[in-house]
Amino acid sequence: MKKVSLLVAAALLAPSAFAHQAGDVLVRGGAIMVSPNGSGGEVPGAGPIDVKNDTQFGFTVSYLLTDNWGVELLGATPFSHGVDLEGAGEVAKVKHLPPSLMAQYYFGNSQSKVRPYVGAGINYTFFFDEKGVNALDGAKINASSSWGWAAQAGIDMAVNENWFVNSSLWYMDIDTEVTINGGSATKTSIDPVGVMVGLGYRF
Ligand code: NI
Repeated sequence: MKKVSLLVAAALLAPSAFAHQAGDVLVRGGAIMVSPNGSGGEVPGAGPIDVKNDTQFGFTVSYLLTDNWGVELLGATPFSHGVDLEGAGEVAKVKHLPPSLMAQYYFGNSQSKVRPYVGAGINYTFFFDEKGVNALDGAKINASSSWGWAAQAGIDMAVNENWFVNSSLWYMDIDTEVTINGGSATKTSIDPVGVMVGLGYRF
């Protein structure tokens, strides 16, 4: 009986076993839905365009510099978005990858099992496999890469010593210039909101 209460006391005295602290590496993975939110832009002489949603596997790696400050890198499997032209339906498909580097602040302390956080940083997005479909079948489409800022808010909730549940919300300032068959460029503001839900593991 005494042994058991000693074990319980030892467990209670080691609350950091459940909590993020300086030096930890946090790996998170899950579904991330990217929902373009920008003005879309207008193809000269043709009309407004609309970039559709896509969901992929997203993953992040964070390193905690202190109990509260961290840095995070976001990666994902390539997003593929359909592009609609008003009145013509889908006219193009584009793929992109939006790696982002974030500085993060985690609320709470190294004893907290729930750690909400906010972050800000930079996003680099490059587009590839751009192609015309339907009305633009066979057209040569190019979308320029984009540098912009990014912001996030998220929450980690400990499940046990190493695993936690994560959810985060992202905003990325992504703007690209789209050219069709080498014609004049259309400035397209994508500025998506991303929602990620998944699991994390703390090393
Ligand atoms: Ni923008």
